[in-house]
Amino acid sequence: MAAWARANAPWKRAMAAIIAASENSESMEAGAKIRSSMGEAKLNLHNTIPSNHPARDTESRVPKAVFIQTDGSETTVDAARGESAMRAAVRSNVDGILAECGGSLTCSTCHVYVDEGWLARLEPIEQDEAEMLEYTAAERRPNSRLSCQIKMRDELDGLRLAVPECQL
Ligand code: FES
Repeated sequence: MAAWARANAPWKRAMAAIIAASENSESMEAGAKIRSSMGEAKLNLHNTIPSNHPARDTESRVPKAVFIQTDGSETTVDAARGESAMRAAVRSNVDGILAECGGSLTCSTCHVYVDEGWLARLEPIEQDEAEMLEYTAAERRPNSRLSCQIKMRDELDGLRLAVPECQL
């Protein structure tokens, strides 16, 4: 029997148990069997995934941020969890993220426009960041943020940030 079919056998048993439970009153015992079968099936299924497949180890995946230039070109960068979007951009040589102060909130040259769909997922702006946003070279907008203050986490995977036309 193929590995895939073997891995799915416990699922079939679990489905059979669900059907059986619906036909008799021993639902408590059937429920325990179902949970046991499903746990076994999940483990077996996981073991059939090739070792180099991304689904094998989601812990090793890192959040990504997408930087969009004014000409529409995009650069996707990997960021360590807790790393700022700015640091990830600088490490990947993203154009237009100057970050002259290195993230100490004294330059505003890491200014970005956050895609509207992502704004609510960011941490609220702290007062220091709000004050520095008064000094951006490009127009400050409601979705303006300083990328050195955006700490990447799994929930921000795919975050889209537009780079302004100028930083100085
Ligand atoms: S890098 Fe200077 S304020 Fe963000």
